[in-house]
Amino acid sequence: MSKVSSQPVPKAVGELYDRLTLSAMTDGTFNPNVHIGYWDSPESTASVDEAMDRLTDVFIERLKVGASNHVLDLGCGVGGPGLRVVAQTGARVTGISISEEQVKSANRLAAEAGVADRAVFQHGDAMRLPFPDHSFDAVMALESMCHMPDRQQVLTEVCRVLVPGGRLVLTDVFERFPRKEVRHQGIDKFCNDLMSTTADLDDYVAMLHRSGLRMRELLDVTEQTTLRLAYELAKLPVLQERPAALNEGNFEFSDDAFKPSDLEGVDDFGCLLATAERP
Ligand SMILES: C[S@@+](CC[C@H](N)C(=O)[O-])C[C@H]1O[C@@H](n2cnc3c(N)ncnc32)[C@H](O)[C@@H]1O
Repeated sequence: MSKVSSQPVPKAVGELYDRLTLSAMTDGTFNPNVHIGYWDSPESTASVDEAMDRLTDVFIERLKVGASNHVLDLGCGVGGPGLRVVAQTGARVTGISISEEQVKSANRLAAEAGVADRAVFQHGDAMRLPFPDHSFDAVMALESMCHMPDRQQVLTEVCRVLVPGGRLVLTDVFERFPRKEVRHQGIDKFCNDLMSTTADLDDYVAMLHRSGLRMRELLDVTEQTTLRLAYELAKLPVLQERPAALNEGNFEFSDDAFKPSDLEGVDDFGCLLATAERP
């Protein structure tokens, strides 16, 4: 059985992503995007890779940035989304990740793409952003909030580093209404084994406002993202194996540790898309 979830510890999250990054590079599953996909409609026939890029494009539509802007990618993974923002908008991107290995990979990809002058990735903790006030025109957080031990603190930091009028776009996971008395085991495994927590949707607007941000949009995109992704991944046998990295080192995972098919059809595992701005 999975353990009861507790607040993620950034250092441990970083070590988990170090391990996942290194194993993906050796087993051939390395992907510049480390996030869910976005399928615009149930009829969409996009592949998982196409849908992953589409999620970044959904962010780009909301970030509203151009060549003169500087974007912070909060929890930047191995750089895929940040590099897409540079390519599509010409904006300058600074990414931070709590994983040193991800930062190395992201900077390598930026150099290979010839945009190391426009995209810089560095190690850092979103709980204490290593940037002065008003440093960024926009902030994006694709599927990284779920790993952070205090969402309120992160949002307050985001507000601090945004310029007035600057935008935040994020996705986060939550449990959809009606909340089950006993949480589905797939959600438990996701939270425990991938060091995550689910957000409280009812509190999200208040949390944005307490941080000083004005909410612009809050959408339930479960059908376009998590629900569809679990269905798509369940069709790919190779992805039904849990990453070997989850069995190494100090991580104490059970024999039945998380794998994507655990979330197939779990329609209360929700995904929200929020847009806010610093007034
Ligand atoms: C699921 S991955 C998403 C990566 C990337 N946004 C993408 O879409 O490809 C989660 C990311 O959040 C980062 N992260 C988690 N906790 C963090 C923290 N406290 N500070 C900075 N980054 C963090 C991880 O290192 C990882 O890069």
